[in-house]
Amino acid sequence: MSSLSQRPANPVVGESIPHEAASLHVTGQALYTDDLVIRTKDVLHAWPVQSTHAHALVTAVRVDDALAVPGVVRILTADDVPGVNDAGVKHDEPLFPSEVMFHGHAICWVLADTLDAARVAAGKVEVDYEPLPAIMTVTEAIAAESFQGARPHMERGDVAAGFDEAAHVFSGEFEFKGQEHFYLETHAALAQVDENGQIFIQSSTQHPSETQEIVAHVLGLASHEVTVQCLRMGGGFGGKEMQPHGFAAIAALGSILTGRPVRLRLNRTLDMTMSGKRHGFHSEWKVGFDDDGHLLALEATITSDAGWSLDLSEPVLARAVCHIENAYWIPNVSVDGRIARTNKTSQTAFRGFGGPQGMLVIEDILGRCAPLLGVDPAELRERNLYGPGQTTPYGQEVTQWERLGRAWQQACGQGGFADRQQEIEKFNATHEHTKRAIAVTPVKFGISFNLTAFNQGGALVLVYKDGSVLINHGGTEMGQGLHTKMLQVAATALGVPLSTVRLAPTRTDKVPNTSATAASSGADLNGGAVKNACEQIIERLRPVAAQHFGVNPADVRFDHGVVSAIGSTADPLPWAELTKRAYFQRVQLSAAGYYRTEGLHWDSSTMTGSPFKYFANGVAVCEVEVDGFTGAYQTRRVDIVHDVGDSLSPLVDIGQIEGGFVQGAGWMTLEELVWDESDGPRRGRLATQAASTYKLPSFSEMPQDFHVSLLEQAHEEGAVYGSKAVGEPPLMLAFAVREALRQAAAAFGPDGASVDLALPATPEAVYWALESARSGQADGNVRRDKAAVDPEPIPGGHPMRPESERVAAAEQPQPAGSRP
Ligand code: MTE
Ligand code: MOS
Repeated sequence: MSSLSQRPANPVVGESIPHEAASLHVTGQALYTDDLVIRTKDVLHAWPVQSTHAHALVTAVRVDDALAVPGVVRILTADDVPGVNDAGVKHDEPLFPSEVMFHGHAICWVLADTLDAARVAAGKVEVDYEPLPAIMTVTEAIAAESFQGARPHMERGDVAAGFDEAAHVFSGEFEFKGQEHFYLETHAALAQVDENGQIFIQSSTQHPSETQEIVAHVLGLASHEVTVQCLRMGGGFGGKEMQPHGFAAIAALGSILTGRPVRLRLNRTLDMTMSGKRHGFHSEWKVGFDDDGHLLALEATITSDAGWSLDLSEPVLARAVCHIENAYWIPNVSVDGRIARTNKTSQTAFRGFGGPQGMLVIEDILGRCAPLLGVDPAELRERNLYGPGQTTPYGQEVTQWERLGRAWQQACGQGGFADRQQEIEKFNATHEHTKRAIAVTPVKFGISFNLTAFNQGGALVLVYKDGSVLINHGGTEMGQGLHTKMLQVAATALGVPLSTVRLAPTRTDKVPNTSATAASSGADLNGGAVKNACEQIIERLRPVAAQHFGVNPADVRFDHGVVSAIGSTADPLPWAELTKRAYFQRVQLSAAGYYRTEGLHWDSSTMTGSPFKYFANGVAVCEVEVDGFTGAYQTRRVDIVHDVGDSLSPLVDIGQIEGGFVQGAGWMTLEELVWDESDGPRRGRLATQAASTYKLPSFSEMPQDFHVSLLEQAHEEGAVYGSKAVGEPPLMLAFAVREALRQAAAAFGPDGASVDLALPATPEAVYWALESARSGQADGNVRRDKAAVDPEPIPGGHPMRPESERVAAAEQPQPAGSRP
């Protein structure tokens, strides 16, 4: 076992404890960035002037009437920028644009003594526009060849040969929209300048180091002149990975020019109309199956709807391409990716980061094709799960393939899948207007940043003379429980009780050059760094203790604040006594820790390599009931088995799984972004600007019966204390909800009906899907390019086929040319 993953006796990691700030969250005492405003004197408030066109040149801006509004102090425009007028890392996001690229785009910002004055004055700024044609949909963008950034191509094997060999070939299209992050705390920044000209920005950001970098660029300063702190976020979900930078820069610029603190906080409508969302995707696909329903070939072109600027669209697309096969072995694969430029907000990271958009392609294909193949969808999925020795289309071996099968068996077993399938058949036979269905879907999600350089983390651990410990690390807390885990890691590595350790807010002047807290890697990277720092201190303390015990330093033990030694009869030393002695012996009691993930390699030009440290695995079983008159539905029961390695903090992990699943279910079933696509004067305006029109999941959408288990015997060798990342992967477990709805809708039609279900599967969408089944027109919108001469239904085995049989199937010789 590696020293990184090995746990000592009595570790604090693995204990089920509440989130470190849970009581502060629920009592309202937890401070968020904007809560600092009332504690700060003479704060100015910022409000944007937003474009009323989706695409236009700004020909004139007149501010005199606005400046006359009482309380207005200054209006920030491009002329005020001392450095680079750009808010992004790709230099395609002017902070003050002369060409507005989406409806709601900020043109300039008003600073005033009160928020009301700033808002009123913003309404009095007169802007002249020269309207330009706007592209609102990904299909319009494809037709106009409006693309931006890289166009990755991933290939393995020979798809043409695969289609030749296939008994069944189908093709079709699939398009779905994005998702609003709807973090409870909207974007916020508070900037101040001290007597030395040092800029201090409190920002709700997942990536303080990059916020610092962008602010420095805009202001024409060096990084050491700008400090960014993030106390915590009221949710980020990827939406605060890159988007906070421009808002922080506006606040900082305003603060420098006025000498007063500047606060910028978007209200919900500003946030929804200005900040980026999850990318919608369009895909065209062609798939080949053999006579037994094994996937032989997949060809796809996937195009993301990126909005006006690149932002994180390239890495999001790369992850989509790398997850197109989800958990299934496909010998021959050819995928092209494109990024559409549209006149919308700049779409960005969102939990899963393109992974879900890629995985949906194959899950949608399997859901639509299973009935056409005459095989149960659960059976089709299980039959295609990865087996031993198989590699992903980009060439990484799926070493933990057996965990997929184990999670599958456990989720189906604990949910009584086979029995319920029979009960559902009986129920459906006797209920004409209500149908039920049960579906099961797997998740295999790669952990690490695709860009190798980001896979590093840092920490600063301070031990005081009295034995108390203060830790800093490079990660940010957004509710996911990273700080809780880091406290547990430090307590474990130092051998002290949890109460001995405190954690200080994330700041760029404590730990520099950090990566975004993203890609679910927060605990892996910062945990490695915290552990490293603690171990440096422990190694320095060992000789001090060894002297007392008269033993070899290696024989000293640290356990819950008690220091003892093997083979010594001397009294154990309290931890605080040891740290005091160490101080007087002039032993350094603080350390900077560092960690980088080893063994990663990735070639983005060929889309090959082993970009992921490991895969997180999971399986969800979901049962739904659909009403035939309205399309309304209920989620009756969900069973999840998810692989978090040896959990660092089981309560936190279960919370992440439940939350991720519900957030995914929201996207699958309710949440719908609607832009005005008409040619009218409001073309490009986001029509769903608030919770009144953008429907979020709430308690009533929770599954009536919800069971989450952590996969057992899941130690992860080579990751901090044997754990795995958990933040994003569970979102994709929610695919099971959509697949269950698809099957329930199909149950209104004759046997073998294949249903093309829109995403989100709103009650209306489900109604139209079941209506197509009922009217006997359900071919899933799939073209049948090739069918076996005498289409025999594929022998459908029991969905709970024994593992041994599945392994045997996987060991069949693979088609020629199938290995990279
Ligand atoms: N959980 C909560 N409560 N709030 C969040 O904003 N963000 C998710 C996930 N879980 C999020 C969350 C996303 S997008 C990521 S990448 C991870 O948490 C980031 O944190 P981690 O790397 O510490 O898992
Ligand atoms: Mo998460 S989408 O990687 O911030």
